[in-house]
Amino acid sequence: YSLKNLNTFGIDVNAKLYADVSTEADLEEVFGSPLIKENKLLVLGGGSNMLFTKDYDGLVLKISIKGIQVTQQGDDVLVTAGAGEVWDTLVKYCVAQGYAGLENLTLIPGTVGASPIQNIGAYGVEIKDVFESCTAFEIATGQIKTFNKADCEFGYRESVFKGKLKGKYIITSVTYRLSNIPNVQTHYGAINAELERRGIAEPTIADVSEVVAAIRVSKLPDPSTIGNAGSFFKNPIVDQPVFEKLLSRFPDTPHYPAPDGRVKLAAGWLIEQCGFKGLVDGHTGTWKNQALVLVNHGGATGQEVYRFSERIIETVQHKFGVLLEREVNTF
Ligand code: EPU
Repeated sequence: YSLKNLNTFGIDVNAKLYADVSTEADLEEVFGSPLIKENKLLVLGGGSNMLFTKDYDGLVLKISIKGIQVTQQGDDVLVTAGAGEVWDTLVKYCVAQGYAGLENLTLIPGTVGASPIQNIGAYGVEIKDVFESCTAFEIATGQIKTFNKADCEFGYRESVFKGKLKGKYIITSVTYRLSNIPNVQTHYGAINAELERRGIAEPTIADVSEVVAAIRVSKLPDPSTIGNAGSFFKNPIVDQPVFEKLLSRFPDTPHYPAPDGRVKLAAGWLIEQCGFKGLVDGHTGTWKNQALVLVNHGGATGQEVYRFSERIIETVQHKFGVLLEREVNTF
C-alpha cells in the first residue's frame, strides 16, 4: 500500500498492511483481528511529522474519526473534535465562530489527534494552553480512557504519549477549553510587527489568525507543493553555563528563557550559521526562508533526507558544541 500521499514529506514507500478507521467501533474491529497480534503497528494522523526511511513492514492505521461538538460554559466554550479532523479546519471553524484560543495555531498541518502528542505550538501558544482533556483507546484492553491536562505531562514538543505511554493508546478525540471573550496573544515579535505594519491596533482573533497565516506562508514551504514536515529539529535547550560559553564566542546567538533556568536556542539560526540555509543536496535540502525545515525537492528518498539531517547535526555540533535532536519521527 503506497504511503506517498499519506506523509507530507511525500516520501514514496509502501506499507505491508493499511487500514483506515472512522469510528471507535472500527477501532475495536481492527484490534479484534488476529492481524494485530502478528504485525507491528504505526498510527497515522496527517503524516505531517514523520520521515519514512524504508517500507513499513507492518500495519499502518490511519485515524479518520470525525466530528466537532460544542458546549457553552459561561465565558468558556468547550470544543471537542474527533482525532481525524484536520487541525486547520478546526482552527478556521473556531475563528469563524468567535471561539478564541486556537488562532495562533493557524495553518499547522496535521490532525486533531496528533495535537496533544507533541504539544504542537507556534507564535507564542502551545496546545497545552487550551487543552481540557482527550479520550484515547487503550490498545491492551480496548477501553476508552480520558486524560486531563495533568495526565498528559506536557512539555516543549513533549507529552506522556511520546514518553512512557508511547504506543499504548490511540487518541480518539480532544477537547479544547476556548473562550467567548478574546484574549489575543500577540507577544511573539513577528505577530506584533505584522499587525503594526497593517495598522491594526486592536486585533480580533480573525486578525491574529490572518497575520499568523501570512507569516507562515512567507517562511514555510506549503507541503502540497513541496514535501516537508515543518521544523525537522527541536530548538535545543541548554544549561546556563553552556549558553554563557556559547554567547562569549557568538554574541548574536538568539535565545529564549526555558523552564528551570535553562535556555532555548534557535536551531534554525545555528543551521543557517553553518551555511545550510537554502542549500540543495541532491533531492533534498533546507528551505530557503527557514533553515530548520528540510524539504523534498522531488523524488527524495527518506534515507537521503536522513543522511542530510545527520550532516547538519554533525556540522552544528562541530561549530557550536550543541546537539540537535530531530523533531520529526523517523521510521
Ligand atoms: N532563524 C534564523 N535562520 C533560519 C530560521 C530561523 O536565523 O533559517 C532565527 C530567526 O531569525 C529567529 C529564530 O531563529 O531569531 C526563531 O525563528 P522562528 O521564529 O522562525 O521560529 P523557529 O524557532 O525556527 C519555532 C517552531 C515552529 C513555529 C515557530 C513559530 C520548533 C521546533 N519550531 O520555529 O514550529 O512555527 O517557532 O512559533 O519549535 C514545527 O514545529 O514544525 C514548527 C514549524
